[in-house]
Amino acid sequence: MKIIVVGGAEDTAKVAFQEIKATLKKKPNATICFPTGSSPLPLYKAMVADFKKSKTSYKNVVTFNLDEYKGLGAKHTQSYRYFMDTNLFNSIDVNKDNIHFPNGVIKDLNAECNRYHEELVNNHRDIQILGIGSNGHIGFNEPGTSFDSVTHVVSLSASTIRDNSRFFSSIKEVPKQAITMGLSEIIDSDKIILIATGINKAKAIRDCVKGPIDENCPASILQKHDNVILILDKEAASLL
Ligand code: F6R
Repeated sequence: MKIIVVGGAEDTAKVAFQEIKATLKKKPNATICFPTGSSPLPLYKAMVADFKKSKTSYKNVVTFNLDEYKGLGAKHTQSYRYFMDTNLFNSIDVNKDNIHFPNGVIKDLNAECNRYHEELVNNHRDIQILGIGSNGHIGFNEPGTSFDSVTHVVSLSASTIRDNSRFFSSIKEVPKQAITMGLSEIIDSDKIILIATGINKAKAIRDCVKGPIDENCPASILQKHDNVILILDKEAASLL
């Protein structure tokens, strides 16, 4: 694992964006899988600012996203699709037909998981971008999830519901379930870039990097991959 420790959130964005740009230069039709949440936000801001200034094109880029809440549609302001549309997709020239997202409002969620899995099988990822939960989750793969998992419906842990309640007006509004890409799909990417900032992530980062490769820390699966970059601020790196 390559570990890059930077001064703050804005710097994580600079490093991550350099990686994306370098890939797009070689492969303008790269396939990139994105997370939502606060960790990648500075990166998305940097991508939008660069698009306005330098017109880096995403026309041929194919996108996937890690996860979506059950019951929240694209127009719901807390859905992950809405987050991506408003923070990135609507502000760059990505072709809407190239955007792949799990649909959290479909009746048959298991069929939806199978459909998404098939799309992932047919579109190998060049870059997987990740955040990490304070409990070591990646995507919504909570501790105890099988390393062999593929896209599935998950019940969110109490700590994830608590962490994510900051985006909702009350904890009661946080959906209890989500669709998430599985761990075997997450690591099926040429390159993995994980961004983590803040002291709340320090223990998860320590377990991810130095702990045993164990399903109790889903992010520890990254130790099995030979092209992983962790971009951390000093606080997130403080237990390494
Ligand atoms: C979001 C996702 C989650 C987040 C993680 C960290 O799509 O897959 O694993 O990356 O919960 O969230 P933030 O960045 O908000 O701390």
